[in-house]
Amino acid sequence: MDVFVIEGGRRLDGSIRVLGAKNAALPLLAASLMSDEAVTLEDVPDLADIRSMVRLLEELGCAVLRDGASATIRTRDDAPWHARYDIVRTMRASICVLGPLLTKRGRARVSMPGGCTIGDRPVDLHLRGLRALGATIELDEGDIVATAPPGGLRGARIFLGGNFGSTVLGTINVMCAAVLARGRTIIEAAACEPEVVDVARLLTQMGAQVEGAGTPRLVIEGVERLGGARYTVMPDRIEAGTLMCAAAITNSLLTIENCPLDALLAFWDRLEEIGVRVEVLDERDPLRATVRVSADRVLRPVQVTTQPHPGFPTDLQAQLMALLCLAEGNSIVTEKIFGERFMHVPELARMGANLYRQGSTVVVSGVRQLRGAPVMASDLRASAGLVLAGLSARGTTIVNRVYHLDRGYERLDERLGRLGASIERVDEKDLERPATVAVVAARASRLASA
Ligand code: EPU
Repeated sequence: MDVFVIEGGRRLDGSIRVLGAKNAALPLLAASLMSDEAVTLEDVPDLADIRSMVRLLEELGCAVLRDGASATIRTRDDAPWHARYDIVRTMRASICVLGPLLTKRGRARVSMPGGCTIGDRPVDLHLRGLRALGATIELDEGDIVATAPPGGLRGARIFLGGNFGSTVLGTINVMCAAVLARGRTIIEAAACEPEVVDVARLLTQMGAQVEGAGTPRLVIEGVERLGGARYTVMPDRIEAGTLMCAAAITNSLLTIENCPLDALLAFWDRLEEIGVRVEVLDERDPLRATVRVSADRVLRPVQVTTQPHPGFPTDLQAQLMALLCLAEGNSIVTEKIFGERFMHVPELARMGANLYRQGSTVVVSGVRQLRGAPVMASDLRASAGLVLAGLSARGTTIVNRVYHLDRGYERLDERLGRLGASIERVDEKDLERPATVAVVAARASRLASA
């Protein structure tokens, strides 16, 4: 297993381009299986989760041609209908083939995703929406088995609100299913996340009729078939936010290109309150802006509560918390989407952060400096928070289990390295040889004095 060895305290400098969004690319790939023709997606990041989705589509009878950052999906055989446990357990987002398979092939068998380190993560709302469209749903040996009625799914009025707001992948599943259903579907309390809008745009290019994407009310008129399309995945707002935190936590000046600023307004608002400057250099396309990020030495504490879009995204909570560890005073971070998503808290404490958690709230009392330590990544965004903490800490931080990070950030070590960070990917077995850490540290201090 790989680990990152980070020598903290180096300033970053230069320009970096945000890559395509994992959380858009996954459902976009899944939606492609509904087309009768080839669909080409551009700017598909090269990530472990994307490779799992490609493998799943191949098992489901699609040919997927990867060429650099593009992926062309073409259905060869539309008989398969089973997304097996072996794949689903490696990637929860496999659930987003449920709606497309059911509506296109009349039935779908998808292993029920289990809980994960950030919480229980039920799929009841997905199933409620599909049932409303006329599907019969049963649970068989741990699999969700969904069957469309004779003549196919039919449009309906559906309310998708739950105790924690709407559901992003649930909205996408029901929207995809409704696109090929007979008649009109109205989804009320739909998720407004930009990734839902991205999928709606692809579906529209394929010939679907979807109104209202990005608002809580979607109106979909079913069509008989979907055609081909060529579509560019939106830039990753969570990667962009993580890079902005990287600039701030290392007290650097970074230029970030292809930045979906328009999808990051709640996050930007908190950054400004903290004292991080975001200068917009080019905003002709607000979803692909160029910004320059810099921070004052003195960071101010803030209150932040995660919420469904357009509120502050849960996927940036760990990264912002790492930054707040260095603010002058007490910040309050409340998690309203995944109440248990605090795996980074005890690890940040190992680095000298002063954190007090009660239930789904953490009080962060800023300290002057974090100290390097071995820490354990436990989920994707927690890992990103630990990498950020390591970039600013004095001394060496070893982030274990970076395979979590690799699920959502493409070659983050190399890309941050190009900006001047001292971050090395090492096989954990080599760490047992003390020389490895010493060599990495020596290389870092040579670079620092160069
Ligand atoms: N929920 C239900 N019932 C459902 C579905 C969800 O109660 O049927 C609850 C969840 O337990 C949670 C809330 O509703 O409390 C929101 O969950 P949602 O369904 O919106 O999450 P998701 O669609 O499974 C996506 C992202 C997550 C991101 C969330 C929230 C993908 C592949 N995943 O998950 O991303 O945190 O939306 O924005 O798009 C990540 O990238 O690290 C990640 C976890």
